[in-house]
Amino acid sequence: MSDLALFGGKKAKQKPFPVWPQYDDNERRALQEVLESRIWWRTPGTKTLEFERAFAEYHRARHGIAVTNGTAALEIAMAALGINHGDEVIVPNFTFIATASAVLFANALPVMIDVDPESYCLDPHLTEAAITPRTKAIIAVHMGGLPADLDRLQEIAQKHGIALIEDSSHAHGSEWRGKRIGTFGVGATFSFQASKLMTAGEGGIIITNDDHFERQARSVHDCGRMPGEWFYSHFIYGSNYRLSEWQGAVLTVQLGRLEEQTLHRHRQGRLLDKLFTEIPGITPQKCDPRCTRNGQYAYIFHVNAKEFAEISTETFIAALNAEGIPTQASYPPLHELDCFRNGEYRKCLAGAQATEKHAFLNQTFPHTQRAAWETVWIPQFALLGDEQDMNEISAAIKKIQRNAKELAAKSSQATAEKVVR
Ligand SMILES: Cc1ncc(COP(=O)(O)O)c(C=O)c1O
Repeated sequence: MSDLALFGGKKAKQKPFPVWPQYDDNERRALQEVLESRIWWRTPGTKTLEFERAFAEYHRARHGIAVTNGTAALEIAMAALGINHGDEVIVPNFTFIATASAVLFANALPVMIDVDPESYCLDPHLTEAAITPRTKAIIAVHMGGLPADLDRLQEIAQKHGIALIEDSSHAHGSEWRGKRIGTFGVGATFSFQASKLMTAGEGGIIITNDDHFERQARSVHDCGRMPGEWFYSHFIYGSNYRLSEWQGAVLTVQLGRLEEQTLHRHRQGRLLDKLFTEIPGITPQKCDPRCTRNGQYAYIFHVNAKEFAEISTETFIAALNAEGIPTQASYPPLHELDCFRNGEYRKCLAGAQATEKHAFLNQTFPHTQRAAWETVWIPQFALLGDEQDMNEISAAIKKIQRNAKELAAKSSQATAEKVVR
């Protein structure tokens, strides 16, 4: 019988990983309190207000604006910066679509740039080379919790007089040179969607030290209102992006666990780095030494197929999952998404920008391709496990490597059968 769990062998991982999301009586009490207060709406409430202040303070920022989700946070950030028709915003090609769609939502062009081959974050050299007179902002994504090169990106943004926004949807609590991410540019956005490092199912926040940006963002998120003004006065274009009191209350409790969980995940991430040095063909995302703390939304590693009998990443993932190790999908390259391929995105643009050639459509983005199709992501909740769990992840990969030839033979046989059928 095969040793591989995929073919009926015993699973490498027997003990389950911690479950996600986590909650206890504190969430229960917080929700009950909102319920019984009958104040479920943020406008007269205090829970969301308390949360946004606490989250901003945790990241050493002066302001926090809690919003409905991380996509909305980016859209509001674009509106607050005044991004508009004809503008360009530099984004990594390797990210979730929201980083780019928020730019389109502002009727501007997301200019996609390849990522660094080791960090999978925005390549600063390519970023600077992509700046044109139309560039208004750079959105850096802290991929998997690892901060992008904030030294260089901050310098480039300042030198060219453009805004830097940190899309920190993966990086709650991450640090760069001992300083929490989120205030290296004009502002930062976060997501509290279910898989994120803290969650209320959905939710998001913008943090900033910039008073003008805060005022604009707060107004955009509340139908263009201004604090202290009559309820039915609307000064700028905005929408309803307000977070409810339920979510504010839950997120305050979740924030209370963030520090300990971040330290734990960072530690387990470095342990996996060490364990994986023993496995030929496995290369973890490089944790830059300037990253003093990685929130570790995911533990990302590259699999060199040559060391695994040329099996596909898909087959590797199927075998790993069968061994009891969870994974989450990597992102496809942005420029290959249907909405860019079929030209649908042009409907958001106006004037010459809507019809002119966009270089990203014909570029190859080699590092994004590698990150998209050849990396494996272990989700953050697995890193909340103990040392034995990390050893078992490593043991499962070693087992796949030992049995890679069998895996290759059986997967090519299965593919051939599929073609015949
Ligand atoms: C990098 C990145 N940016 C933005 C978002 C959008 O967040 P949300 O799902 O809360 O809208 C996500 C969430 O998946 C993300 O991973």
